[in-house]
Amino acid sequence: MTTAIFTDEEKNMYGNQVIGHKISKKIMSPDRVIRVTYDEYIDGGGTAVAEDFMRIVKDKIGVVDNAYEFAAGPGYIGFALLSFGLCKHLTLSDINPEAVAACRKTVEMNNLQDEVNVYESDCLDDIPKSEQFDLVVGNPPHFCTMPNGTKIPPLWDIRTYDPGWNVHRKFYDDITLHLKPGGHILFCENILQSAPRDFIPMIREVGLDLEEVFTVTPNPDFYYMWSRKLYYS
Ligand SMILES: C[S@@+](CC[C@H](N)C(=O)[O-])C[C@H]1O[C@@H](n2cnc3c(N)ncnc32)[C@H](O)[C@@H]1O
Repeated sequence: MTTAIFTDEEKNMYGNQVIGHKISKKIMSPDRVIRVTYDEYIDGGGTAVAEDFMRIVKDKIGVVDNAYEFAAGPGYIGFALLSFGLCKHLTLSDINPEAVAACRKTVEMNNLQDEVNVYESDCLDDIPKSEQFDLVVGNPPHFCTMPNGTKIPPLWDIRTYDPGWNVHRKFYDDITLHLKPGGHILFCENILQSAPRDFIPMIREVGLDLEEVFTVTPNPDFYYMWSRKLYYS
């Protein structure tokens, strides 16, 4: 039984997305089709950036064994990596039980039970230590300042707001335990309210190596932070 953390009123406040408006998109690679199904309000932009992620992973990282989409929403980025053969196994997690339920439904409908694990988790709190990743991808909440100056985002807006960058900090603090040596983290961030200097100290404080910061056209507002766990420490 899924406990909703967004009320119907809150769902409708988000970008004029209508309650119960189901989206069903096919990710079509030459090898396999995955149909991803979710309520429209759960999409946090992954459908817009999944192609960027695939291009970057293909060009800079290559095929990995175990990929993890952090704060996955409907899991569109992760399912795209799986569909295009850029990972052999996929792990997804989100704090929102409705996003988790949507991911589980996609897994079930596409018979991906042997290839995909899904967790409901505040950052990595409920991810078992046995989960070890070669690659973490993420399109986390992009904005740290609430429009009205309040400090805690309303539940319907945890997709967008990470006040004080606490979600980012908690993620970087805990991810190294789950990264294989040489493992990669690739996050999409937004230039409108952040800069690489906001995240670089978090990356370096936990001993990760900053590999590259770059933009990908045609999304000039977005930039990508690529960091890596070294083979030595
Ligand atoms: C910008 S949306 C991205 C969703 C999806 N990855 C996409 O690209 O469509 C940010 C996501 O972060 C999740 N989130 C917010 N705080 C979180 C936390 N503390 N732990 C895990 N997920 C969190 C939200 O529920 C939301 O699904």
